[in-house]
Amino acid sequence: PRCELQAQTGLSRLHRTDFATAAQAVSNTEQTAVSDAKESFSLIQEKRHDQAERSVLINCPPNTNKKKFLAYISKHGDIRNHFFYETYGIYAVVEFSSRDSISSLKENCTIPSLQHEASVPFKSRLLTLSSTATGKKQTGPNAIKCHNLTPPSFDKLINQLSKQETVDQQMQCLTEACQLTEENISLRFLVCSLLRDIAAAYFPDCIIRPFGSTVNSFGKLGCDLDMFLDLDAVSGHDQSKGSGLSLEYQVKRGASERNVTQSILSVIGECVDVFSPGCVGVQKILNARCPLVRFSHQPSSFRCDLTANNRVAMKSSEMLFIYGSLDERLRFLVFTIRYWARAHGITNSFPGAWITNFSLTMLVVFFLQQRTPALLPTLNQLRDLAGPSDKCVIEGNDCTMVTDLSKITLQQNTDTLEKLLQEFFEFYGSFDFGKSSINIRKGREQNKPETSAMHIQNPFETDLNVSRNVNSSQLQRFVTLCKESAWIFQNGDVLKRRSASSSNKIPQWGVAALLMPSVTKSVEAREKRKRRKNERTAERIMSVLQSLKSPAEAVLLGC
Ligand code: CTP
Ligand code: MG
Repeated sequence: PRCELQAQTGLSRLHRTDFATAAQAVSNTEQTAVSDAKESFSLIQEKRHDQAERSVLINCPPNTNKKKFLAYISKHGDIRNHFFYETYGIYAVVEFSSRDSISSLKENCTIPSLQHEASVPFKSRLLTLSSTATGKKQTGPNAIKCHNLTPPSFDKLINQLSKQETVDQQMQCLTEACQLTEENISLRFLVCSLLRDIAAAYFPDCIIRPFGSTVNSFGKLGCDLDMFLDLDAVSGHDQSKGSGLSLEYQVKRGASERNVTQSILSVIGECVDVFSPGCVGVQKILNARCPLVRFSHQPSSFRCDLTANNRVAMKSSEMLFIYGSLDERLRFLVFTIRYWARAHGITNSFPGAWITNFSLTMLVVFFLQQRTPALLPTLNQLRDLAGPSDKCVIEGNDCTMVTDLSKITLQQNTDTLEKLLQEFFEFYGSFDFGKSSINIRKGREQNKPETSAMHIQNPFETDLNVSRNVNSSQLQRFVTLCKESAWIFQNGDVLKRRSASSSNKIPQWGVAALLMPSVTKSVEAREKRKRRKNERTAERIMSVLQSLKSPAEAVLLGC
């Protein structure tokens, strides 16, 4: 069996790029065509979905011998890919070449008999390997090597960054260290596929599709798993073909689309809670603007949000994927800025009034559209390049975008990542959020249509504000932090690479320094000191004035 996991195409592979030099090499042309034959977004999703349907997830004891395990499993068919990881125990993701192998494997599985409890006899593709072998963890060539699902610790990342030569390299290094791996994405698709088995009991043709950062190429290790239940294929086609007769299903009716979505999610949520092994802490949040079921998938440690009827959000994931494929600088900037925001508490994994990662990404896209020459096209330009097969209208929203990236011609922009990062901070440190709205469809700022603190027009549902949740104090924190970071850049010193001193302590410079709380803290502390000094001066003046009113007291106090 072929046991290595093959890298999929799709996510632009990282290679260290010197943008200014690369651009000089083609300096005779003002524009560059996006010529790489990249697979389309939907083709990549289909491939991954298909792989997941042919895969199983197996909990293995720590002393598992890899060779024996693979030989045992491959009795049921050719194993195309596999990998191991560790969360609450060691797990193996095994992808067979054919789906028939799963049926064969399942025929050999038993339902466990429990001593003091009873089991729900739902036969999922989440399995446990039992072994009669005793002994310690395997070592040597047959030992299991676990793939890492979590991001590096803050200290480890800072260390890695400080060892780079330039700020550009630091930003590329940060992206490499934090982005989702192929294995992680495969596991995410597998979790969707396992949940589909539950929903398919009611809707056999349904698909559960991941969207958001799992698929938009901006996912960071540890990000949540956004999914939606796609019932589109369930609706069926008219088969009358001129006979004059046709049949349709009798159906239950609901008061509105939203009502039907809430009922379906409520039932599926209940089934996930009762039948689906590994899914814990199921919460139904059905009154949200976008009703959802939230839970934790323990074997993968993923925080999951299941929605239904959410095809527009899938389109915005595709849009970000397209932008990410056009110019790799976008991804490097987004990863750096998201990390910077998280390190300073500007974003948070809990819902609240803070800026979300999605909003931050939109801010970066908009900023790159504003460069001269523009580094990214507007969404309207992507729409205008679309062919007839790209046409897409969802619930009255025009979501048409070009999918053939070779039709896109980019203007030539040679800005380095360091320059872009610095000017991002300057741009948003002085952006007029009070008056202006961010509009990536037109690539221009617009007058704000409503009074929210921050307004970013939703690219496809144009009446909606992506950052409606952000309140003015969170916006202020973001703007202040941008100003401070711009100030740090302008002072230049922090950006100079410093090598390790004799004490062997790695000095923090560049992006590493921008991420340290101490940098902004020191700015804050300096401001505070200045304020305190002013206050003390004011107090002294006040007391002198007071004493002038009563000369006798002034003499007593020695003024
Ligand atoms: N979305 C949206 N409007 C919002 C919030 C979210 O259209 N106000 C859509 C976007 O397509 C987004 C997806 O829902 O990508 C998932 O939202 P969320 O999980 O908040 O963002 P992610 O992009 O997945 O980023 P993160 O890594 O923080 O999960
Ligand atoms: Mg998400």
